[in-house]
Order: sequence, then structure tokens, then C-alpha cells
Amino acid sequence: MSALVLDDVKVHFGGVRALDGVSFSVEQGELCGVVGPNGSGKTTMINAISRVTKITSGEVTFQGAPISKLNPYRLSRVGVARTFQGIRLVPDLTAHENIMVAAEQKDRRTGSAGERRAPSVIVDELMERFALDPIRDELPGALSYGTQRRVEIVRALATEPQLLLLDEPVAGMNHAERDEITQILRELHDDGLTMLIIEHDLRMLLSISDRLVVLNFGKLLAEGEPQATAKLPEVQRAYLGGDRG
Ligand SMILES: Nc1ncnc2c1ncn2[C@@H]1O[C@H](COP(=O)(O)OP(=O)(O)O)[C@@H](O)[C@H]1O
Ligand SMILES: [Mg+2]
Repeated sequence: MSALVLDDVKVHFGGVRALDGVSFSVEQGELCGVVGPNGSGKTTMINAISRVTKITSGEVTFQGAPISKLNPYRLSRVGVARTFQGIRLVPDLTAHENIMVAAEQKDRRTGSAGERRAPSVIVDELMERFALDPIRDELPGALSYGTQRRVEIVRALATEPQLLLLDEPVAGMNHAERDEITQILRELHDDGLTMLIIEHDLRMLLSISDRLVVLNFGKLLAEGEPQATAKLPEVQRAYLGGDRG
């Protein structure tokens, strides 16, 4: 059974067909890369899966259950977490507090089974693993862009997701920061986490993806093995035709 299934998903904003009948699936443990020109519907797709945006028609199914009817809290409970295209950390909470908030929300909603690990334990472990201990008590504004991103990804991980949706995780980063985030994504992939990653940096995406999905004008232009899919003439044309985003 596929982990995530999009079945003829449409998201229309008035006359704008941001997503216009998209169907594909992501397998358990798969890292699926998503590319497409600016305005092709990539962010809308993650918004639709994470219930930030209302789906006009169609269905999103996660581990066999339709998620398009769940509210965002229920969604986190079934194990879907995301990051946003721009940094969205709470500015007056420390790195540790930002991550704790996510971990505690998750815990409350799942009840307090005796064997469940405490949120603080989960957070301490994640912060150590992703080298955030040194900046534990810093406010986001004092951190580099790359480190803020790392905090955001760890915040999403603190909800112990089954599916992680990332919208342009390395946008605006320098080489070292990109490599750092890419390495984290590789590790999460090795852990078996199912991921859907939108990224502008095609080379980075090709280096980590199991499969590539290409959107154009709200429709699926191509999907398949990453290198071969990126080389398809229609994919090359879509990229050369407009500015990328
Ligand atoms: N909330 C919204 N209201 C109206 N139009 C929107 C909204 N969100 C996105 N769009 C439009 O939907 C299309 C796809 O946008 P988006 O999903 O952000 O593209 P991408 O992430 O691929 O650059 C664009 O034409 C954009 O202007
Ligand atoms: Mg976008």
C-alpha cells in the first residue's frame, strides 16, 4: 500500500487552477522530489496535503485513510508534518522552545500512554542528533539562515511524523548550509521516513530523490526515475520556458 495517494486533486482559486487534477502516490519510505516552474502548483500541493488549503475536488489518502477531511491537529496526530517555503519560527521563543511547542502539542493529542517518551526527551535527543545543542537558548533572529532551517526541520521531526513535507528546504542557502541540510535529509531517508520535497535546486534534489515528480500549470508533466525524468524534453522545455520557482 502506498503511504500517500493523491487522486485527481484540484485546487482552484476563483479562476486560477493552481492544481488541476493531480494524481500520484508516494511509497512508504520513499523520498519523492517535486519540481516545476514558478507558479506550477508545488506549494499548493503541499498546502493541500497538509490541509492549509482547501481541496476543490479529489482526494488525498494517507496510509489508507482520507486526510482531506481532517483538521490540522488531527493531521499531526496521524503523522504528517511540514515546513514552509519561508522560515516560520516563533521569533520570541528560543530554538529549544520552538521545538518543544511542537513536541508538546503532539503529545497532548495522543494522550499519555505510560510507555510514551516525554516530549523533553524526544526534543533533547533530536537537538543533540542535529547539532542544535550549542544554540539551544538562542532566539531565531540570532541564528544563521541555515541554522534556522535546521531548527524548523527538527521542529517538524519533534511531532514524530510518518510523512514529512518540505517546501524548498535549501532555498537561499550558501553551499555549506545546503550540504548540511542535504545530509540531514539523507539521514532521515536512511531512517525510513517518507518524504515529499519541493526544491528549486534540481541537482540537490536529484542527488537524494528516489523518484521525481514534475508539475507544470497545475498538472503532472512527468514522473519517474529522477535523472531520466529531469532529462525528458518536455521537462527541459518547461524549465527553459519560464523563470523557475
Ligand atoms: N491563496 C491563493 N489565492 C489565489 N491564488 C493562489 C493562492 N495560492 C496560490 N495561488 C496561485 O496558484 C498558482 C500556483 O501557486 P504555487 O502553488 O504557490 O506555485 P509554486 O509553489 O509552484 O511556485 C499561482 O498562479 C499562484 O498565484
Ligand atoms: Mg512555492
